[in-house]
Amino acid sequence: MDRVRAIAHPSLALIKYWGKAEGGINLPAVPSLALTLGGLSTVTTARLADRDGMVLDGVERTDTKVLAFLDHIRTRTGSTARFWIESVNDFPTAAGLASSASGFAALAAALWALIYQDEPDPGELSEWARLGSGSACRSIFGGWTAWRARSPRAEPLWPPEFWPEVRVVLFVVNAGPKPLGSREGMGLTRDSSPFYSAWVADAPGLFDAALDRLASQDWDGLGAVMRRSYLRMFATMLGADPPVVYWLPASVRLIHLAQRLRDEGLRVWETMDAGPQVKYFCLEDQLEAVLKAVRDTVGPLEFRIARPGEGVRVEPCD
Ligand code: PMV
Repeated sequence: MDRVRAIAHPSLALIKYWGKAEGGINLPAVPSLALTLGGLSTVTTARLADRDGMVLDGVERTDTKVLAFLDHIRTRTGSTARFWIESVNDFPTAAGLASSASGFAALAAALWALIYQDEPDPGELSEWARLGSGSACRSIFGGWTAWRARSPRAEPLWPPEFWPEVRVVLFVVNAGPKPLGSREGMGLTRDSSPFYSAWVADAPGLFDAALDRLASQDWDGLGAVMRRSYLRMFATMLGADPPVVYWLPASVRLIHLAQRLRDEGLRVWETMDAGPQVKYFCLEDQLEAVLKAVRDTVGPLEFRIARPGEGVRVEPCD
């Protein structure tokens, strides 16, 4: 195969990764638990070339994270190849919708196919993807995934069919790029937030609780733990100096609305990442009611609907 196409989906964490451990590239200080989101995709084509280059969403760019990633893969494999990469996201890039997770998962899979001309070892491929962006190691696998503290790779927990009724609505509060990347935000939090050590100490308990609720398909139990995880993550960010503040007024409105909907009997649970977007988790039978409530209360907002999705896949292309 001279040219390959890889398709990957974002990994949305219920239990958040925020903070890198010392002594490795993107090793997590805390465990995370995530769902791979079918319905949002990165499609990456790659081929061998005379020089490294990248076109993202139709625009040629010099992306230092991507160039460093290519170097890591060459060092790891002994390859001397250069790569031309074209990548398209069908959702806003770098806005806190996990485009780096699907982007590096797709890129890792494409490079594996070009270098080895063979099926990947999923665990090893997860390690490759992590070198580009931590959360990308989870996007290698479909369905529900775990990434343990200090582990170089993620692991699959349950496939998408485990809970097919789960829906995620991703509200695009602001489609522009976020002001501060997750890497910088994590560094600032670790180096200056007095709450960071408490966050790291507390996270394993949330992870264990979430795993337990997920295994027994306890929706509201899982949602309550998920909410604690994202709010504690933001609490530690707010303690950084200067503070890391990703929320916008519409983000806060959606957080309050989720609480009101729960009070009214809808089983909807929200989460957020390194950006202003808010993601609602609900079950299929309440999806329409949730969308109507948002329309009626917040007004028209761009949104995407996702469901449990598949892991990365590669296909030859002409
Ligand atoms: O791995 P990164 O750099 O994409 O960071 C992901 C950080 C969060 O989205 C906030 C949490 C997570 O676990 O995905």
